[in-house]
Amino acid sequence: MAIHRTAIARLRDVAGPHAVVDPEIVASYTTDWTGRFVGDSPLVVRPESTEQVAGVVSVCRELGLALVPQGGNTGLVGGGVPLGGEVVLSLRRLRTLHPVDTRSGQVTAGAGVVLAELRQAADVADWSYGVDMASRESATVGGMVATNAGGLHVLRYGDTRAQLVGLEAVLGTGAVLSHLGGLIKDNTGYDWPGLVCGSEGTLAVVTAARLRLVPPTPCRTAALLAFPTVPDALDAAWLLRRSLPGLEACELFLSPGVELVCSVSGIPPPFPRSHPAYLLVEVADQTDPTGLMGEAVDSVPKVAEVAVATDTARRAELWRFREDHTQAINTLGPPHKLDVTLPHGAMAEFVDRVPETVASIDPAARTWLFGHVGDGNIHVNVTGFPPDDDRVDDAVLRLAAGLGGSISAEHGIGTAKKRWLSLSRTSAEVTAFRSLKVALDPDGILNPNVLLPAEQG
Ligand code: MLT
Ligand code: ZN
Repeated sequence: MAIHRTAIARLRDVAGPHAVVDPEIVASYTTDWTGRFVGDSPLVVRPESTEQVAGVVSVCRELGLALVPQGGNTGLVGGGVPLGGEVVLSLRRLRTLHPVDTRSGQVTAGAGVVLAELRQAADVADWSYGVDMASRESATVGGMVATNAGGLHVLRYGDTRAQLVGLEAVLGTGAVLSHLGGLIKDNTGYDWPGLVCGSEGTLAVVTAARLRLVPPTPCRTAALLAFPTVPDALDAAWLLRRSLPGLEACELFLSPGVELVCSVSGIPPPFPRSHPAYLLVEVADQTDPTGLMGEAVDSVPKVAEVAVATDTARRAELWRFREDHTQAINTLGPPHKLDVTLPHGAMAEFVDRVPETVASIDPAARTWLFGHVGDGNIHVNVTGFPPDDDRVDDAVLRLAAGLGGSISAEHGIGTAKKRWLSLSRTSAEVTAFRSLKVALDPDGILNPNVLLPAEQG
């Protein structure tokens, strides 16, 4: 998209000198993390304050320029890259992290604060932040709120929406909504934070969030359990959820994923022989949970092998088998990432049917299954299809929906899945979504190619 010099000058006026047109710098904002979604933009603006963000949105509205808000650019569904030639509005410079309010156990963080920094600040204040994920060094608060990020600890603390007790955001009109008081009981109308969270930059641009913290659980134990079949591993997951209240993570992965991680990362396999399915579980508490974890694991049938880790270094080693999946899969070329939730009773059937579903379209394609099964979320990654061939997306999303699941568990709809929104939302719901969009972004300038499918003419 061409952009007039006057428009650039106007945006520089409001956003300061950090509005860049240098193609090399712009290029670092226009491709998503997986490499599957490659966009193009005439300009990246990088404001430093909420006022500057409001100014940018107002100028874009006046000039009829669409924009894509972007945080750490770790999204996986093409929701944060300018696929329609939009201006990129990077929020990474909004890095104010206020001191932790140790009495309420809350903190206010600018949209550009990185998850690792937030978690560290909470730890130092003797609190803890409930959301964690492998992209912690790059994912930002604004992006996590916009996508309602989930991650590794949802089964214990909930998703990002469950942490949100206040929000500051800029509507598509340029108006600033600020509700950062953090009152737990505050029944004074619509829940702005809850509404904007997960709206993927289509209703408002998140500039800051007030987040609840959770009491620290400094004692933690992880265990890697190997199973002869996937259903055995899933049965174990449900059992452990019931018997271990301190269960913080419960992750499934399979032997092909472990083999790939070991070959790409150069780490030795977890056990002398390979097993079809693995569960990585972590329990955290105020006192050492190793004994309780041992008893719980002993009561689980069909465990073939166990590795327990009580110290930080050994736990990190076990976590690599899970967290290195994403990186390792990306070495095979841009994957199709199909992140879905299944009802607990349908997970085993889904895992069983996905590989044959993929093979029926292309027998040479490869299917990688892993994820947060403790909360019903499984990531289907498929390699071997060109980025714009979405036959496999269609088949896998229909399979998940047909079994009563959702087509997006934690990654969002982005541009990748909007064509299938109707598999998870009724037309009455989508119509209500559109009305909200028009009310908060009357000219449709905020992330116009995301979430909502094109209206049928
Ligand atoms: C993860 O949990 O590692 C990511 O959300 C899933 C993915 O990379 O597909
Ligand atoms: Zn995930």
